[in-house]
Parts: sequence; structure tokens; C-alpha cells
Amino acid sequence: MAVTSRTQVGIVGAGPAGLLLSHLLTLAGIDSVLVENRSRAYCEARQRAGMLETGTVELLRSAGVGKRLDAEGIEHDGIYLQFAGERHNLNFRELTGGRTVTIYAQPEIVKDLIARRLADGGAVEFSASDVAVSGITEDRPLLSYTDESGVAHQVSCDVIAGCDGFHGICRPLIPDISVYERSYPFAWLGILADAAPATDELIYSRHEDGFALYSMRSHAVSRLYLQVPPGEPLENWPDDRIWAELNRRFKVNGSDWSVSEGRITDKSVTPMRSFVAAPMRHGRLFLAGDAAHIVPPTGAKGLNLALSDVVVLANALRAALAHADWDLADAYSDTCLDRVWRATHFSWWMTSMLHVNPEADGFDRQLIAQPAQIRDVIAGGGAFPGRELHRLQARPLRPVTALPRWPRPPAYRALEAVFSRLPPAAGDRRLSLVTRHRPLCFPAGPRPTGRWSPVPSLVARHKPPRSSVQAPAGPLAREGLAR
Ligand code: APR
Repeated sequence: MAVTSRTQVGIVGAGPAGLLLSHLLTLAGIDSVLVENRSRAYCEARQRAGMLETGTVELLRSAGVGKRLDAEGIEHDGIYLQFAGERHNLNFRELTGGRTVTIYAQPEIVKDLIARRLADGGAVEFSASDVAVSGITEDRPLLSYTDESGVAHQVSCDVIAGCDGFHGICRPLIPDISVYERSYPFAWLGILADAAPATDELIYSRHEDGFALYSMRSHAVSRLYLQVPPGEPLENWPDDRIWAELNRRFKVNGSDWSVSEGRITDKSVTPMRSFVAAPMRHGRLFLAGDAAHIVPPTGAKGLNLALSDVVVLANALRAALAHADWDLADAYSDTCLDRVWRATHFSWWMTSMLHVNPEADGFDRQLIAQPAQIRDVIAGGGAFPGRELHRLQARPLRPVTALPRWPRPPAYRALEAVFSRLPPAAGDRRLSLVTRHRPLCFPAGPRPTGRWSPVPSLVARHKPPRSSVQAPAGPLAREGLAR
């Protein structure tokens, strides 16, 4: 006989998407149960992405889970791009009016979020089996699973969030879902090494024998990648061969610069894939993160996109479940897919430019390698990385004007009335004074012209359902509000 219970949101998957969603919902006073089929230790050790956009850093801070990120994350002003043995620096901060990237590994974000969920008394079930979802077109979909000790559970929910990654069980529940996919004819051999990085910023190198990426996890740990054929056996790559190949692909003309070597602690081959499934919602089931889309890692967009979905979803669920307003939920799939397709295009473009495609014909090779394009890229001009990368960050997560409203205290309403009469620039400046006491929204869209409407955030709505949850003192989403 199964143990039955009730929650508002049943979440499948404790990756960054599922964990952040359950945390944001808690801040919004919405109850959730999160079910994960792997152990906590497995989730915390899984090696994945590590480059966070400015908006993602702001989001994690605003949600009160940015303390270790601020202490240990490494902020980079830009990247190096290398073509034909020439290395060029691309300064994002200068090109994009102050935006940067921060190196902070995904396992660390997962550890931070798990620690916070458990400290807040969140319902998180690791090592669950027989996880299943049913009734997604009814008002009370069911999340069922067997817990670690063998007890079966059935949780009646208002909605289900499928945050269960590419191989999860939720996406196949959407009938007639459209899938758009591209498999690339190459893969990445990735290593993790105990070696202080020999570079201050990431190096993306296009060599005639294949792409190489120099990145890092910390000041003492390097993360390096080599383009290899898909399905390449790891046995073909003893450590000595890896270091020699890395040094060859990163060689700078006329320089004796070299990769710093150390003990290799992890080695894996990752296929390269672009994948988008649409729509991202059916009935009471919402997909978020890798469950709905995958980008090749070249553009470092996967984790950032997943967390963008989660902000949109948390806002939509708050409006639907706390205010019976389903407009944002109805717009959820379109809102996310707009950004997803932009990032998918960017990632495809960057991947095509930097890799050597063994299937390319002479025409393709000329298109990719023509000097004018490369000059454009290196200059951060029309074509790309600096501006493009960050234009993506700047894209709205949601329009401010579309947010739900609820009664605000009189003092707040009075200030709001004053602000709405101020010209936008003055309004912006004064806004920060108010928000110190009453934090507003997470990264949002451009400020509407003319009358401006401040909207309290998830953080401001914070009503701890269980006990010890602290509302973060976090800063405002500067991007959303200052724009
Ligand atoms: N039941 C419960 N949990 C499941 C099930 C299932 N049937 N299937 C998968 N999961 C879990 C996985 O074990 C994993 O912990 O769902 C989680 C999905 O997490 P991720 O794959 O990390 O996906 P997501 O949270 O969307 O993270 C965003 O984007 O590009 C990437 O590196 C980036 O992994 C990051 C991802």
C-alpha cells in the first residue's frame, strides 16, 4: 500500500534546474516535493559546465545562494580566441558595457542548492526508484516513486515540473511533441587535472587538426578539452598523448607558452548535440532545462539556459498557484523557446566556427575559414562572441508589465506613485533605495517606456512554509531594472 501525500509542485530531477526551482518556490511560499533517482553524492560529483553569465550570478545571489559563489567563483573579463596559431583577447567587459563571465563549477552550484534545500527542511528524495508521473491533463497529476528504504509513495500535485534532464521520463509524456535535433560529427575528450591553469582566461583554439578548449575549475584545477571523433575510445588517449596534443593545438606562433600539466583525475568523452523539444508544456506538466533542450557545450549556454527556464517557471507557478492567474503559465513554453532558439543558434554557430568538420566539403571549409569572418570575430565586431554572447544574457526573462500584482503596503504604494511620475532615469536611481527594503524582481526585460511599474519579487513574497527559510538580502536584478 503506497503512502499518499499532497503538494503543490511535484519536481522530477535534482539537477540545477529542479533544485533551483524548488528553492525559488519555497521563497514564494509554494510547497514542492523533489524526487531524484540518483544519490546525493552522485548528483554532487557529476562533472558538468562551469561558466556562468552575469545574469545567472545575479540570480543565484538574489535567491540567497550566492555566498560561496562570491567567495570562490573566478570572474573573467573575457576569453582568448586562437586561430592559426595567433591568440587574441576578447574583452567582454569593454565590448558589452560591463558584463563578464564567472567560473564556478556546476557541482558546486548543486552542492550549494542541496545544502540550502535541506537546511530549509525541503522535501527532497534522493535514490528514489520507479519514478512515474500520470494524469498530466487532469487537475491533480500524480507523482509516484519508491523511496530508498523501499516504501512506495504517491504524491498528488497541482503541477509537475519535469527537470529530469535529456534522458528523463517527463518529455515522452507530451503527445505529439516536436523534436529538432543536430548531432555533430565530433565529440569532446575532457580532462580534469590537478594543475594550476597556465592562462588567466579561457582559451578557445581552432587548430587545423581540431578544436581545443583551455578552461579551469579553480586556481588549482584545470579543465581541458580536445575535439575527437564521436565515440572515441578513452584507451586511445593515454595521458602523455593528451598533453602532447593539447600543447600542439594551443601552440602560439613564435612563443614557447605551454599548457601546465598535472595529475589527470577525470577523463570522459562527450557527444556534441543540439536538441530542442516543443512545446515545453502539456496540461499540468512543464519541462525545464535539459529535459527540453540541449546545446553543444562550446557556447557555455546549457546551465544558464536551464536556470532561465526556472525563473520563468517559478514566476508562472507563483501566479498560477498563489493567484489563480494562469497567463504566465500559458505563455511559459513560448517565453522560454524564444530564448532557447536564440541560444541554440549561437551555440551552433560557435561550434561550427571553431571545430574542424570531417564531413565538410571545400565550400564549407572556405566559409568557416575566410579571413574576413575571423577578423570580425576577433574584433568582437558585428559577427560575434563578446556582443552576441552577452546580447543573449540581456534578453528578458519576462516582461515586467506582464507580472501579477497583489496588494502592497501603503508606504510602498506611495513610493510607487512617486516613481511612476518620475522620468525613467530618475526613477532608476531612486529605485535602489526602495528595493533595499523591498527587493523587486529577478532579471527581467527592458523597462517599459513611459510609466514604470515596480513589482515585488519572489523574494519579497517570501513566506517560509516550514520554518527556517531566510529571505535573502540579495541585490536587485540590476540588469532588469536598470535597463
Ligand atoms: N527520476 C528522477 N530523477 C531523474 C530521472 C527519473 N526518472 N531521470 C533523470 N533524473 C535526474 C538526473 O539524475 C539528474 O539529476 O534529473 C536530473 C537532471 O539534471 P541535469 O541533467 O543536470 O539537467 P538540468 O537540471 O536541466 O541541468 C541543466 O544544462 O547543459 C547542461 O551542464 C548543464 O547539466 C546542466 C544542464
